[in-house]
Amino acid sequence: MALLGRAESRSRLPAAAGRKVDKMSPDHGELGRAGTNGNAGDWHDTRLDLSNRVAVVTGGTGGIGRATCIELVREGVKAVGVVDIGPQVGPFCREVNEKLGREALLAYQGDATDAAFRAQVFADLERRFGCVSICVPAAAVTRDRLSVRLNKDTGEPDIYAEEEFRRVMEIDLVAPIYWAISTIASVARDRARRGLKRWDGREAVEGVIVFIGSVSSAGNRGQISYATAKAGLEGAQATLAAEAIYYGVRSAIIHPGYTDTPMVRALGERFIDENILPQTQLRRLIHPAEIAHAIVFMIRNSAVSGQLWADAGWHPVA
Ligand SMILES: NC(=O)c1ccc[n+]([C@@H]2O[C@H](COP(=O)([O-])OP(=O)(O)OC[C@H]3O[C@@H](n4cnc5c(N)ncnc54)[C@H](O)[C@@H]3O)[C@@H](O)[C@H]2O)c1
Repeated sequence: MALLGRAESRSRLPAAAGRKVDKMSPDHGELGRAGTNGNAGDWHDTRLDLSNRVAVVTGGTGGIGRATCIELVREGVKAVGVVDIGPQVGPFCREVNEKLGREALLAYQGDATDAAFRAQVFADLERRFGCVSICVPAAAVTRDRLSVRLNKDTGEPDIYAEEEFRRVMEIDLVAPIYWAISTIASVARDRARRGLKRWDGREAVEGVIVFIGSVSSAGNRGQISYATAKAGLEGAQATLAAEAIYYGVRSAIIHPGYTDTPMVRALGERFIDENILPQTQLRRLIHPAEIAHAIVFMIRNSAVSGQLWADAGWHPVA
């Protein structure tokens, strides 16, 4: 059994690609390889090597998106296309790149629901760096209110505006799915160029999608549109997990609990203190960096699939 240093980073192409392949046992048969410094430091690293990977993060200057870009850079990613509708995207990327001393973050200001804009971002990233293989589509909005409110004066019900509902679906459900699909397409095109067909388990994983769900996906009072969108992403994740592995792309979803970002701060301190914190085991908001850390863990550990709940022990009362 050959020792594979960085299992994911070494090219382990199928025989069809003209390379020798090592069939690995579940524990790779090499776990006892001790380090020279007296601890296990020399044990091989099975995590996905990011140094040759290009990622795209939408909502990249929001609380969780920004933290995810920083965590990806800390983990050595080659480049990240940072997509956001807000004007902070340029300054944020400049600041990080200056600290880093290389152009790792590329700023793309635009609307994540705009298909032409999305195509431009992928074309530009592919032209500069090659295939885009990691996607964290984090851009989202909330438009919260009860589905039906009774007007006490008239006795008439006032229902949640359909227009608002559709807009939330566009931003929080349709757009993340299409950024994910475009990433899978980028990998598929790249594989076709390299003459590769169905992905083989002996190859390195080609790409990863991590959708951002929410604890609200389980249903949440006042969030008919947001909760519906987040639950919908679960179906997309499970479907793409089944489809995209054909190209070697994994798909997973993280469900964060209430995290200290502008989206949650907009609820107001009193609401957070009275309605959110008492329903968490940690009695605090989650730090965006904690979610980013979990996202990058999901990206780099290929054994992780499906859903991860990072919710600070969220237990809402009925
Ligand atoms: N904060 C939380 O408690 C929490 C909990 C669960 C899930 N989430 C999810 O995490 C993700 C990030 O949320 P956050 O808390 O960092 O929110 P945030 O408001 O800080 O960030 C969202 C970002 O998305 C951008 N954006 C919004 N609409 C866009 C559009 N059409 N095109 C491009 N960019 C757009 C915004 O400009 C903003 O920078 C979202 O998917 C959110 O639903 C957040």
